Amino acid sequence: MRVPDIIAKKRDGGELSREEIEFMIRGATSGEIPDYQMTALLMAVYFRGMTPEETTALTLAMAHSGALVDLAGIRGVKVDKHSTGGVGDTTTLVLAPLVAAAGARVAKMSGRGLGHTGGTLDKLESIPGFRISLAPSEFIAQVNTVGVAVVGQTADVAPADKILYALRDVTATVDSIPLIAASIMSKKIATGADVIVLDVKVGSGAFMRSLADARNLASLMVEIGRMSGRRTAAVISDMSQPLGRAVGNSLEVREAVHTLRGEGSRRLLELCLELASRMTVLAGVHEELGTAREHLEMLIKSGVALAKLRDMVAAQGGDPTYVDFPERLPVAPFERAVVARGSGHVARADALTLGRAAMAMGAGRARKEDPIDLSVGLVTHAEVGDEVHAGQCLATLYASSRDKLEEGASIADGAFSISETPVAAPPLVYEAVDA
Ligand code: URA
Ligand code: CA
Repeated sequence: MRVPDIIAKKRDGGELSREEIEFMIRGATSGEIPDYQMTALLMAVYFRGMTPEETTALTLAMAHSGALVDLAGIRGVKVDKHSTGGVGDTTTLVLAPLVAAAGARVAKMSGRGLGHTGGTLDKLESIPGFRISLAPSEFIAQVNTVGVAVVGQTADVAPADKILYALRDVTATVDSIPLIAASIMSKKIATGADVIVLDVKVGSGAFMRSLADARNLASLMVEIGRMSGRRTAAVISDMSQPLGRAVGNSLEVREAVHTLRGEGSRRLLELCLELASRMTVLAGVHEELGTAREHLEMLIKSGVALAKLRDMVAAQGGDPTYVDFPERLPVAPFERAVVARGSGHVARADALTLGRAAMAMGAGRARKEDPIDLSVGLVTHAEVGDEVHAGQCLATLYASSRDKLEEGASIADGAFSISETPVAAPPLVYEAVDA
């Protein structure tokens, strides 16, 4: 096999064989194929696309480019979920204990936040003492005893994805649906779950801006999961406004606890129930979505799901009193309200703008190595469709200095628009994609 022939085949719209794809990924991982040849191939894929079969071959080659996480020591069906990333998306902190409380095993590897989107590991680290890195034996033992553990992904998971992503990032080839699908699914497959539920976000705060693109990405990932022998489903959910009310690390942990008490944002709770019921049905814990939802709601009402979060935090070295009293989590001292300029109905509470405001105050990082401030962020008090009056507080910002507060406020002010006529709230879930 010659690399220039493989590049030319894709450039001319041909379909690559599994052997050709494996050859390219092996060469990229070992360093034998130089960056300029890999990026030429990535650009050819960007323009020509890939069939589901090619994308599955790419996914599996990337998944096997490093060590597979061995979860054989875990008894029972292992479930995982992945969100394509959003603003105020605290679902993992609610879902992981909820699904574990229902009886499935959640052995989750999460990521950090980047840009205006948050990451579960940062949120968990706002709980004093919480350890996001466990030895493999500790991780497996905790999932067997507690039912759930959430840790950082180890360095050797799908190394080819790291190499390809770094090249895509600087060659304008990130935005390719087969490359995104393979990137996400390679990590999910390498980390060993039997059941994968995908939350594909659509809207200003998401990777996918149009419903058509979100649908293509969701269907392709479900197809890859099926062809790779994993029980996979996807939900397409709205990210035109933040999912929950809190944006920022400590603030989102607080909201997750409120949600597990049944008191949080209605949208966040609803999406968690939607995703969790698919996870437990695919895991065989529940027979169908209706009974799954009833049981999951009961686990929230009874406090069993919240107790599971407490157990998980304690098992990972975190101080569980922060689960009992989440208002003790540090929140930045400088506070300012964003108020409605007129009376009417909220027409826009833009996720991207609010995510950028929180990031400007220090909640997120522009580059992977940037430090973040876990105590800053914002809480919204109105959603699209709500009726508001002039001067009403739409959001409260929390920053660690006056300058940062003003910087955040100047951005957040542009997130809201008010319409004189009634506005319909956008759907929370557009559709579900099943295998
Ligand atoms: N998230 C990923 O993990 N990979 C992509 O390519 C895009 C989003
Ligand atoms: Ca996330």
